[in-house]
Amino acid sequence: MTTQQPDHGAGQLAAAYAQPDCALEVSGVVAGYGGGDVLRGVSLTVMQGGITCVVGPNGAGKSTLLGTISGLLKPRLGVVTLHGDRLTGKSPRQVLEMGVVQVPQNHSLFTEMTVRENINLGGFILRDRRVLGQRLEGVLEMFPQVSEWLGKKAGSLSGGQQRLVEFARCLMLDPKLVILDEPSMGLAPKVLKTVFDAVRLMHSQGKTILLVEQNARAGLRLSTHGVVLENGQVRLSGTGREVLEHPEIGALYLGGAVSGAGNGNGANGSGANGSAADAAQPGAGA
Ligand SMILES: Nc1ncnc2c1ncn2[C@@H]1O[C@H](COP(=O)(O)OP(=O)(O)OP(=O)(O)O)[C@@H](O)[C@H]1O
Ligand SMILES: [Mg+2]
Repeated sequence: MTTQQPDHGAGQLAAAYAQPDCALEVSGVVAGYGGGDVLRGVSLTVMQGGITCVVGPNGAGKSTLLGTISGLLKPRLGVVTLHGDRLTGKSPRQVLEMGVVQVPQNHSLFTEMTVRENINLGGFILRDRRVLGQRLEGVLEMFPQVSEWLGKKAGSLSGGQQRLVEFARCLMLDPKLVILDEPSMGLAPKVLKTVFDAVRLMHSQGKTILLVEQNARAGLRLSTHGVVLENGQVRLSGTGREVLEHPEIGALYLGGAVSGAGNGNGANGSGANGSAADAAQPGAGA
């Protein structure tokens, strides 16, 4: 685990290149919206085949970080690469074509369109209709419940069901990196388990995932790696469990320090986020 000071790139970059199974590298990124920097020298890595969870308070810059990766925002300094290929400087469309697909923080389906139409939109850059058909088949195999909703208007689905459709849509491009911005946001605790199970399922099928999660405890529990972003800087990074068990982070973000984490679930503390996070545990909730 590393506790980090502001870093503008060089050391982090060298460390990242030394890791052959690194998928995404964010190195010394400084970015904002014109009114000052929001990200102030952010460096982190997303390991191939892992789930990296970014947690941090509201306004820390989590969505800004994701926008910088997706090409929506150009960093003032620093660079983002995917398997060594530069994403920085590319348009959002080019980043998509390079295999980075994001599910945004707010619900993003076209509510008046059917579920099938929405999912097919996820493959809009695919020209070959046969490939589109095959991808849809594969996606429905992964999320069979979505098959039952194909003819329904997306707006008629519950919040949790819409999230699964958004996941299905993002898989249409068979992405190298799936980015999920607060997938549990606005969902009832009993629905969280379905959404987190779906994240686990994508991971078990080989997807590399960068997850931002407000339910920090639940997000870190299902993740291989964790990053704490605070005020536009990486405060701490390590394995999901290391971050989860860090006493200070526990007190700040997880509703109380985690102790006695020898049970394999990594946490037995309770607090502000406790009930929602616990509902997301395997076997818990509806
Ligand atoms: N489009 C924008 N224009 C100007 N400022 C913005 C814009 N989007 C975000 N900000 C500002 O950037 C800072 C970081 O916002 P960001 O949305 O990245 O935080 P976040 O960590 O994702 O927060 P949350 O947990 O609330 O989603 C905030 O101060 C926010 O007001
Ligand atoms: Mg956000």
